[in-house]
Amino acid sequence: MAMLRHAAGSMKYFVNVNSRCTRNCSASTETFSDIPSPQGIWPVIGHAHLFGPTGPYKAERLTEAVMDLSRQLGPVFKLRLSGADSVVTVDADDTRTMFRHEGRHPFRPSFPAVQRYRQKRFGSMGIVPGNGEEWYKFRAAILPLLHPRVVKAYADRHTQVASRFVDYIQMKINETSSETINDICQDLMKFSIEAISVTVPGVQFSSLAAQSIREQDTQNIMNASTDFMEGLYGTLIGLPLWKLYRTRSYRKLESSHEVIYKVLESRLQGMKCRYMDSPEQIASAHPFLAAIFNNPTLEWKDIVMLGMETFLGGIDATLVYAFNSVTSLDEKYFVEPLKYLPERWLRESSTSKGHPFASLPFGYGPRMCPGQRLAEQEMVILLAEVLRKYHLESADHTPKPVGMVYRMNRVPDRPINLCFRNRRV
Ligand code: HEM
Repeated sequence: MAMLRHAAGSMKYFVNVNSRCTRNCSASTETFSDIPSPQGIWPVIGHAHLFGPTGPYKAERLTEAVMDLSRQLGPVFKLRLSGADSVVTVDADDTRTMFRHEGRHPFRPSFPAVQRYRQKRFGSMGIVPGNGEEWYKFRAAILPLLHPRVVKAYADRHTQVASRFVDYIQMKINETSSETINDICQDLMKFSIEAISVTVPGVQFSSLAAQSIREQDTQNIMNASTDFMEGLYGTLIGLPLWKLYRTRSYRKLESSHEVIYKVLESRLQGMKCRYMDSPEQIASAHPFLAAIFNNPTLEWKDIVMLGMETFLGGIDATLVYAFNSVTSLDEKYFVEPLKYLPERWLRESSTSKGHPFASLPFGYGPRMCPGQRLAEQEMVILLAEVLRKYHLESADHTPKPVGMVYRMNRVPDRPINLCFRNRRV
């Protein structure tokens, strides 16, 4: 696991790391200024030229860039990006030290364009772009999401959505008379929308229905989710021109928020009315909504914002500077890291060398993903339902390895085409 942090959040961490570290790199790194960094800091853009058209790296191939830089500079190095120093470590021990010293309000690089737009338009910022006390208030409000009892309350409806996905796959197979489904990620996104809608807004969407009866809202949400990620990424990298005028990326942030707001606000209003009429019934079927409706520290604008963040987090996992990808591919931590060996995750497996901080897909500590349990439940139930009916194979005759590119989160670098063979035939 490697982590990039703005210097303000990292200084303390490095003092801590260095005072304990026995490894070559950090032992020789006494102060922040001793941390190595690539040559050539340009005015204003710092190291961003390394990721520009003439630079050696591509922003979307950040994992490869970090691997290459760590080979040249050692496992801890710094970069100057967006006007701030950021520190990268690709050592799982450092990752542990960093997470353990994050304190009560872990700092995350903020998303200034999102902050500005949300404050101006909705008067509330939410969790992801926030820091300090404001972040803490919202974070505390969505903590029920991590409660096993709350997550379990959605299990039956997650099973229903998963079996609707199986029917949807069968419908596509019948329509095309082919067992091959190309670009399965698009279909999985429909599953994600329907699955998260069970929790927020509590009214299930029909993304997995046949196109003729599918709500237009579903397509709008899929487009808005893609626009949101692109807008987030586009306003984060490069020069902050959005401060001067409404750039294309900034407009994508605006339009995606407007769509999600429109779709969710009215449904949340409906659920709030139902909650006022019969609080016990809603608390048992919709424990997360009941918890935020019942929270005296939240105004309606905050509730809608939290609903929007949970909904978007449920479709497309955010937050940008985590490089699980680097330590997850390190032979120091995993035997044959490039091989698909699912048994490595079994406790007694000999293919994992067992560093608990070498792979943290959901983060760790007070800022860890609040949707982890919900996401794991959705995924396990979906896999069980799909594998009960189908045997899965790659639909490509000579399957090439799948790489990852950054679109805020990491996505496959090519469409995944799968063959669904019915086990019962
Ligand atoms: C496979 C699915 C998911 C993955 C891999 C994932 C991963 C992550 C990671 C790595 C973080 C950043 C942790 C950190 O900064 O230390 C995060 C934060 C977050 N996730 Fe997820 N997530 C997933 C699903 C979800 C779901 C289903 C929801 C909503 C129900 C959600 C909502 C959030 C929110 C709101 C944050 C911001 C937390 C904060 O800043 O305090 N995520 N997620």
